[in-house]
Amino acid sequence: MRNTILVTGGAGFIGANFVLDWIREVGTPLVNLDKLSYAGNRESLAPLAGDARHIFVQGDIGDGALIANLLATHQPRAVVNFAAESHVDRSIHGPRDFIQTNIVGTFEMLESVRAYWNALDGDAKAAFRFLHVSTDEVYGSLKKGDPAFAETKRYEPNSPYSASKAASDHLVRAYHHTYGLPVLTTNCSNNYGPLQFPEKLIPLMIVNGLAGRALPIYGDGMQIRDWLYVGDHCSAIRRVLEAGAVGEVYNVGGWNEKPNIEIVHTICDMLDQIRPKPDGTSYRSQITTVTDRPGHDRRYAIDAGKIERELGWRPTETFDTGIRKTVAWFLDNQEWIANVQSGAYREWVEKNYADRSA
Ligand code: NAD
Ligand code: DAU
Repeated sequence: MRNTILVTGGAGFIGANFVLDWIREVGTPLVNLDKLSYAGNRESLAPLAGDARHIFVQGDIGDGALIANLLATHQPRAVVNFAAESHVDRSIHGPRDFIQTNIVGTFEMLESVRAYWNALDGDAKAAFRFLHVSTDEVYGSLKKGDPAFAETKRYEPNSPYSASKAASDHLVRAYHHTYGLPVLTTNCSNNYGPLQFPEKLIPLMIVNGLAGRALPIYGDGMQIRDWLYVGDHCSAIRRVLEAGAVGEVYNVGGWNEKPNIEIVHTICDMLDQIRPKPDGTSYRSQITTVTDRPGHDRRYAIDAGKIERELGWRPTETFDTGIRKTVAWFLDNQEWIANVQSGAYREWVEKNYADRSA
């Protein structure tokens, strides 16, 4: 029986967590295709060194010949597509890579997968799935009091990142409706947890806090996100892959809306307890207000009722348990943090924050 799966973007934050969890929880072979962009990190996969169930391939999802070759060689029963450019601020500074990977790359994946799937025989063809990992940002921004995003919410993407993800979602949908490709799509809220690159809010605040650097809050800090611990996102994807209805979309979220400033206060208070500063001041004293993100979405909230009703999935971590695990992981993994803060990382920080002075 075919039991290998092909995962793209499995050296990034969520992808690496998914790969590690998959090998631990499911244990069947997994081919991991990743370009190793600035966000991809082989060190995150170090626990799998020497494990024959994990086959790592460096390559681009936009390389149709490579994808076709991997599909023919490994005959996967499913593809899980994480690979993307994922950072909103980078999409504002330079959208081109987002169009290339998130739209053209997804298109190339779909084309290669369609050809592979068409050639499969009866049972293998019926069992095959293409799961596309997407975001709640495609739905746009909510006002206070608006209902949380359901799967039926109109798409209203506001950043080059969310527009590129929206386009990829539409392509995935069209390949199902037009060609019958057995697709599944998940739209998830903000993730946090181990292995997250310190350009995103939570790891940036932990890393900057510990280094004595400024903690930059965009605008008034009252933008709301719906936070989900990464392990819960990974279990939701496994559940959708196992039991999701073909062609359906499942929203995934943590039922956990919080304003950014509250998140940063929580991290500061936790660091004050676990790693008090020698001068006795609070990490909160490092908080600074900086110029807002252009077009900044005010609020996201996910209605995760469908995945709960139809597939019995709910998150297992509360924000309190998840953020404790996350802060502990960063405190215990100083070498990982040091290694990702390369020259390229420092250049990005300079570019993003230099013109946002308080
Ligand atoms: P990430 O930026 O940490 O990782 C992306 C990975 O994709 C990296 O390993 C990178 O090397 C790889 N990659 C980039 N371009 C590639 C290409 N052309 N070919 C092959 N590999 C390529 O991203 P993440 O936060 O782990 O997000 C993973 C997926 O989940 C994305 O599709 C993102 O849109 C989605 N998502 C993220 C969040 C979140 O909060 N981080 C929430 C919902 C959905
Ligand atoms: O909602 C899901 C999305 O969440 C994913 O699709 C994206 O890939 C992921 O990056 C994330 O997007 P956000 O823009 O919400 O995440 P980010 O961590 O960049 O920012 C979270 C909030 O914190 C947002 O309101 C902007 C704010 N922020 C961010 C940074 C980096 C700050 O106030 N200061 C900062 O320095």
